[in-house]
Amino acid sequence: MRFKQLRPVGHPIICQRSNQNPAECFSPCKVNFYASGTAALAAAISAAITAHQNARPEIILPAYACPSLVSAILFNGAKPVLVDLAPKQISLDLPALKNQLTERTAAVITVDLFGLPSVTPQLREIVRASGAYLIHDCAQATPSPTRLTTIEDELVVLSFGRGKPVSILNGGAILRSPNNPFSLPASPAIQIPSWTTNVQTNIKYRLYNLMIKPHVYWLIDYLPINVGDTRFNPLKKTGGISPTALQYLAINLHHASTREQRLRNHYAQLGGTLSGQGWIDLCQGADPLHQNTLLRYAMLAPSQAIRDDHLLKMAKLGLGVTSLYQHPLPDIADMPNVLQPTTRFPNASTFSKRLLTIPIHDHVDSGSINTISKVLSYSQLT
Ligand SMILES: Cc1ncc(COP(=O)(O)O)c(C=O)c1O
Repeated sequence: MRFKQLRPVGHPIICQRSNQNPAECFSPCKVNFYASGTAALAAAISAAITAHQNARPEIILPAYACPSLVSAILFNGAKPVLVDLAPKQISLDLPALKNQLTERTAAVITVDLFGLPSVTPQLREIVRASGAYLIHDCAQATPSPTRLTTIEDELVVLSFGRGKPVSILNGGAILRSPNNPFSLPASPAIQIPSWTTNVQTNIKYRLYNLMIKPHVYWLIDYLPINVGDTRFNPLKKTGGISPTALQYLAINLHHASTREQRLRNHYAQLGGTLSGQGWIDLCQGADPLHQNTLLRYAMLAPSQAIRDDHLLKMAKLGLGVTSLYQHPLPDIADMPNVLQPTTRFPNASTFSKRLLTIPIHDHVDSGSINTISKVLSYSQLT
């Protein structure tokens, strides 16, 4: 039995409340808060559908993505239209995107997977020219002050859920640039929390911080909960963010924005060495100057067999390495039969079979890094 296990993702929550107005945290952007990232996505899609005014709205999304995107689209009664990823990249394939855009496309959702940038000037141009709205899902990205300045006419969606760059275990938001005229329904009024909910939340955060420590996290495997299990869950209602949790947002946002990426150079070097053996370093490819804070380090293995072999070995060693969603959206467990078949998305399919994510949080110690490097450097099947 192993009494130590790294979690794949996520940082401890800073248990400090602040009186700062949470709307000011994202200045100069305008912000609306929601109950979750999925609820924020649903609100952004609803706003795009209303502005676009087509009776049978379609929403474009990547064929490899979090199933919450489909939940948010179906919640609005719109049709999800999948587009393949660009070969060996996290971003949408632009020729495939052009093929799928029609006068019914109310919005295009792009996802900053692992915190890597997914929006390029070309993509913006294609979406603008089509008359659709751009929804930029930044649930996995850190909304640093520099990133806020890059927001143009898109709606940026954030999640503050478990394992996200800014986590308060609850809530989500939509950000817009200060001169974006897009109107969103006002967020529900934020109530003053009672002292009992304050105490409960504080205890919850401290317990969470304890649970994610490597010497406690191994216990998760023995609890009757499915952490990291990816399946479709319908969105039943939206609603507002917890006012209690919101008091912790400012300080956690500040910490996330100033977080050092201690392991980034090390993994980039490892990726460079592995590229000779057929590995693809997605992070170095999409963000060579290390301008974005990563939630996980991501690479594509030379083949599915090698990826699966490494996953198995590293799971036994408790190293927090994962294959993330495991499948393209049409093949996700419990997914309703409303999506185009996976065979139409060869790049997303290959991506899902070769993807390996490596933890980059502060509990990854030098011993774990050495073991990860050794296992990955031995890329032959044994
Ligand atoms: C890319 C992406 N978008 C949206 C969501 C949904 O966020 P939430 O869990 O806060 O509903 C997630 C959650 O994991 C996500 O990874």
